[in-house]
Amino acid sequence: MIPTSLPGSPFIAYREGSLFVEDVRLADLAREHGTPVYVYSQAAMLAALAAYQRGFEGRKVQICYAMKANSSLAVLQLFARQGCGFDIVSGGELQRVLAAGGDASKVIFSGVGKTRAEMRQALQAGIGCFNVESESELEVLNDVATSLGQRAPVSIRVNPNVDPKTHPYISTGLKGNKFGVAHERTVATYQRAAALPGLRVVGIDCHIGSQITEETPYLDAVDRMLDLVRDIEAAGIAIHHIDFGGGLGINYNGDAPPAADALWTKLLAKLDARGYGDRQFMIEPGRSLVGNAGVCVTEVLYVKPGEQKNFCIVDAAMNDLPRPAMYQAFHAIVPLEASAPAGGGGEHVYDVVGPICESGDWIGRDRRLAVQPGDQLAVLSAGAYCSSMGSNYNTRSRPAEVLVNGAKAHLIRSRESVEDTFRCEKLAP
Ligand code: LLP
Repeated sequence: MIPTSLPGSPFIAYREGSLFVEDVRLADLAREHGTPVYVYSQAAMLAALAAYQRGFEGRKVQICYAMKANSSLAVLQLFARQGCGFDIVSGGELQRVLAAGGDASKVIFSGVGKTRAEMRQALQAGIGCFNVESESELEVLNDVATSLGQRAPVSIRVNPNVDPKTHPYISTGLKGNKFGVAHERTVATYQRAAALPGLRVVGIDCHIGSQITEETPYLDAVDRMLDLVRDIEAAGIAIHHIDFGGGLGINYNGDAPPAADALWTKLLAKLDARGYGDRQFMIEPGRSLVGNAGVCVTEVLYVKPGEQKNFCIVDAAMNDLPRPAMYQAFHAIVPLEASAPAGGGGEHVYDVVGPICESGDWIGRDRRLAVQPGDQLAVLSAGAYCSSMGSNYNTRSRPAEVLVNGAKAHLIRSRESVEDTFRCEKLAP
């Protein structure tokens, strides 16, 4: 049985019983590139971006794609061509942005553990802003910038202490989290930043968490941020931009997050009401731009009935798609072809698991499927934090990736060879 409606993107849908990404049949891509393979819809990414752009129409906004969600070069290139900047968290990500043709001046650098070398690299590239996460980081950045004869543009990332009501591993704006400077320390931290010769205060930043499906945490964060902007400016320090971070959730399993345009219409009304609507804003969306634009296609290797559980063993594993193992995350799993498999034993409830030698290696639990070896399945909503979080555990090569645009499919990453996985290693003498 095929699901009548799939969670996620309208660009990923069945046509006459076959699953398509835009105008390309996934079974054709699986045949050409093998499995597991990631397939992304360009139209779905552009539609997700357009929802933000609609919400911000007529406002001064820089959208900085949080590239950790999916850092494949062709995905970065797509967003760079649409005028996006990038939220980065490492020197490696900066190098990717530049390799993809991104504009360094639209890059903002987040993260609690920036090294001196990364600061130097980012200053030399001329990035737009450092989102500084602690008082000691301010001092180090001042030092590095001074040694280069530069003034580093900075925002302080504020921890607004609001509960985003999401998985604890992806909550970032609560007092107990490692991120940002405590609300109560913010004005003093700005005063210190303004006094340091190697720094130039340009903005304020927050990010409260990820996969947020309610409006309230955002509305609360806006209020807390504006209170701070008022206090910092009263202390004589101008704030040129306000960065609200990312975090908007997507539909994995009937989740109903607000649409980006509807959310921002509301948030902007609040900003207007408080007299801040004409400011320069930044946002750092990741998941909501790419998550529902991707699928991971995998092949059933074995079907293993058991006394307590039936297992459907597939060729994708926790190294390829770590979210279920890491966060007990749900990804819908659907067949590529709707026709009931010839000789198949009908529908059963399975745990869909990978070949890795760990019980935590599962992709989906208790899924009703009619499958037999050789069938192909699509793991949905796999555009964000799947490929980018992949590893080579069990010496498994990283999957190929394909970007679909209408009826065209472009291979944007070839399947890694095993030699690639140990290229940096050496035998001892
Ligand atoms: N800005 C900062 C500073 C962040 O730390 C993050 C995500 C974002 C923006 C983008 O958030 P988004 O719009 O994607 O929610 N691996 C986890 C998610 C980790 C999110 C980390 N920070 C997962 O698979 O659910």
